[in-house]
Amino acid sequence: MKIETILTPAELPALAQRDLRATACVVFDVLRATSTFVTALHHGAKAIIPVSEIAEALAFWKSEVGSQKSEVVLLAGERNGVRISAGGLDFDLGNSPREFTPEIVRGKTIVSTTTNGTRALRACANAETVLAASFLNLAATADFLRRKNFETILLVCAGTGENTALEDVLAAGALTELLAAREDARPTISDATEIARQAWLEAKPDLSAEVGNAENARRLLAIPELRGDVAFCLQRDIFPLVAKMDADGAIRKI
Ligand code: MLT
Repeated sequence: MKIETILTPAELPALAQRDLRATACVVFDVLRATSTFVTALHHGAKAIIPVSEIAEALAFWKSEVGSQKSEVVLLAGERNGVRISAGGLDFDLGNSPREFTPEIVRGKTIVSTTTNGTRALRACANAETVLAASFLNLAATADFLRRKNFETILLVCAGTGENTALEDVLAAGALTELLAAREDARPTISDATEIARQAWLEAKPDLSAEVGNAENARRLLAIPELRGDVAFCLQRDIFPLVAKMDADGAIRKI
């Protein structure tokens, strides 16, 4: 098993040229897209449809309205961290995991567009397997990857805007630590993966302080109604599920 890592969203466009047929992509957008999707699936959402653009989310939602299924589809997502209003509609949900309660999401399909997370997921669509991962479901994700014994695992740090996001790199490093713990089959680790692993080992004694100083957390901590998201997303292994994007583009719980 080989573990590679994309540390910055600037590397995402190159994925279109890469043969990912024997690769499992594990996408991290800890603050907050992948944490939010994992939370929604844990609370009973049927599926999440990640799309890159607001127009795609609206088009999906409208096509469902046309097919009389609109009551089971929710529109979600953010721009600049806050819930979207577009096309004369206020989206049902933003991108705060704490909004995705069982009462709101159970049985629902949620189409979501976020600044980085949903784009990173879509950029991996040609991979053999695509997972949405977070600190919230890290151990379950590691168990799944170990069981499947993929040739290559590509850890994809979704980032913030055009930049690397520390919390995504730390989660990639934490997953690497779990995968490398197996003595019988030690993975080969790329330099970028080693950077993530070293950053994680350095940060893990005080994860919330390290992440709290990073760009994305500072932005969320400055918005009173969103500041609780940072601590929420740093909880470890509270949701024992794997979030897998199927060939139809929907992320489901397995
Ligand atoms: C993203 O996809 O860029 C994010 O998750 C941003 C956010 O939720 O604020």
